[in-house]
Amino acid sequence: MDEVLSGGITNAGAVVRRGEIVDRPAQAHAAAIHRFLEALPEHGFSGAPQPVGLRGGREQLTFVSGEVALLPYPAWSMTDAALRSVGVLLRRFREASSAIPLEPGVRWATDWADPRGGTVLCHSDVCVENVVFRDGEAYGLIDFDMAAPGRPLWDVAMAARYWVPMLDPETAARFPSYVGLDSVRRLRILADGYGMSAEDRTQLLSVVEEVVVLERADYAARVKAGDAAFVKAFHDHGGWAACDRLQAWLADQSATFLAALIQ
Ligand SMILES: Nc1ncnc2c1ncn2[C@@H]1O[C@H](COP(=O)(O)OP(=O)(O)O)[C@@H](O)[C@H]1O
Ligand SMILES: [Mg+2]
Repeated sequence: MDEVLSGGITNAGAVVRRGEIVDRPAQAHAAAIHRFLEALPEHGFSGAPQPVGLRGGREQLTFVSGEVALLPYPAWSMTDAALRSVGVLLRRFREASSAIPLEPGVRWATDWADPRGGTVLCHSDVCVENVVFRDGEAYGLIDFDMAAPGRPLWDVAMAARYWVPMLDPETAARFPSYVGLDSVRRLRILADGYGMSAEDRTQLLSVVEEVVVLERADYAARVKAGDAAFVKAFHDHGGWAACDRLQAWLADQSATFLAALIQ
């Protein structure tokens, strides 16, 4: 009996669970993603799905049991402890990923790839819906479709955007899940959970700004493509004015964030 899994946008309605197996659309380079997923446990990271099959444009992976927070995000998923554990998870993922040689000749996804490139494979889509929790702690990372080479900080900056969240107060107020969260304090919690170096702390804000630039380009492409459901959601959440406000807020608050990160 198939159960449709919700939580994603890209493959909405097309990801199904069959017992302990997840069956979903496969990327053209899924075989390379599978080889990476198989190498992760050998390097100490057991929280990623393991490949089971690949045929007919679909892939089969193991189901990672636990809880995934979906909108509206439950209170437990936005606690400081949950956020800190996301930082710990990303550190563990980073250590495993950086021990796996980057496979040459693979056309990795470009959608959310670090624009500066890099030598380690980043997950590149660390949104709330792609992290699995067990007993209130981040345990697993799923949905490696967007994985691409990048700087290690790329995944932390992307996680910051959605988990802290890095969102100006006016827009954050439109999301019940994000109301009342202190971004300045929470960015520090994520960085501490990750065990971020002093050097990386000075870089983090500018990498978050790069994530937001890419996000804006993604919105523009989807608006241009005329994706009706997206266009409605985009305008409901403030449209281009909200993008401008977020970028202005990040620039305006960067010294405050930096002070909280390094003090
Ligand atoms: N291997 C897995 N283990 C556990 N849950 C999964 C797994 N794959 C998908 N899910 C669940 O299904 C949802 C959608 O799957 P996902 O692969 O992230 O789709 P999309 O590519 O559309 O984002 C996830 O948010 C998660 O709740
Ligand atoms: Mg997903």
